[in-house]
Amino acid sequence: MIILGIESSCDDTSAAIVKDCILMSNVIASQKVHEAYGGVVPELASRAHQQNIVPVVSEAIRQAGIEKGDIDAIAFTRGPGLPGSLHVGTSFSKGLALALNVPLVDVNHLHGHVLAHFIKDDENTVVPSFPFLCLLISGGNSQIIKVQSPTDMEIMGQTIDDAAGEAFDKCAKVMGLPYPGGPYIDELAQHGDPKRFKFSKPHIEGYNYSFSGLKTSFLYTLRDNIKLNPNFIEENKADLAASLQHTIIDTLMDKLDKAVKATGIKTVAISGGVSANSGVRAAVQHYCDRRNITAFIPKRSFTTDNAAMIAVAGYFKYLNGDTCDITAPPFARVVI
Ligand code: KG4
Repeated sequence: MIILGIESSCDDTSAAIVKDCILMSNVIASQKVHEAYGGVVPELASRAHQQNIVPVVSEAIRQAGIEKGDIDAIAFTRGPGLPGSLHVGTSFSKGLALALNVPLVDVNHLHGHVLAHFIKDDENTVVPSFPFLCLLISGGNSQIIKVQSPTDMEIMGQTIDDAAGEAFDKCAKVMGLPYPGGPYIDELAQHGDPKRFKFSKPHIEGYNYSFSGLKTSFLYTLRDNIKLNPNFIEENKADLAASLQHTIIDTLMDKLDKAVKATGIKTVAISGGVSANSGVRAAVQHYCDRRNITAFIPKRSFTTDNAAMIAVAGYFKYLNGDTCDITAPPFARVVI
């Protein structure tokens, strides 16, 4: 099965070709236009997707060394995401599916992140066995998911306010770092003392997360100290970053540990943009090694939004006979 995947949920236009789950190409056009605004501007994102989508899809087909006529099905991100951005990918996919007379498969973007672990270099690539727990941490979501099969996932817990990525980005912003701030915090944290500052940790029932209190406590620390020393941020940025990252990781690991203990599942995967974080990757690997749990840490290129994960998720849905109608609208929030 040759699947063309199309991703346009936020600010990356991406197209990929997979043969079954083996990667043949994965092209991503990131949108630099948002940097000046310190966050994604939805209208600019949709316009950039419209400019990018044809060349990105053509390039993915070219790099895979196939012809358009070789495509067996088209998988596209139906949501969640920015409505305008989703419309571009959805409409394009429908048009191409009609023209090529191939089935369409709608993919939940979050399922795509989880199934990024099934993108294979070749037949020998090792993939998670079922069931496994996935810590999905991105700019918009923080979830612990029990994955029973590629198409059967249960959300055990999720953020009730900010996501982990938002905590990184918002705290980075008040430190004067560029957007998105997560990678900058990661870099600074490598030279800082993670125990120097104490920020509040949430006490939320069950497996849910909350990061908005941490953000407030970070802000108060900055405010109180800047009154005494106007250069406080500049002089302490590595320790601030390291302490912030340490608190986020501690919070993530607490609930993951709880879920591991409750389910007895011995395979853990992480995914989403924040799973690129060096501290998160090391903490999960260390946690799993000490408990004889198999850890799946994704390649950094598959942590952020990409169409390869959408193509793979589409492949599994297609195998289940789960295709979608040409009239299916995108959805901004609701999960399919
Ligand atoms: O999954 P993703 O690409 O996008 C969506 O949420 O749609 O995740 C983006 C998030 C941003 O918050 C970004 O700051 C964060 O992933 N991120 C990181 C790192 N790389 C990306 N956060 C911490 N450390 C990193 N190295």
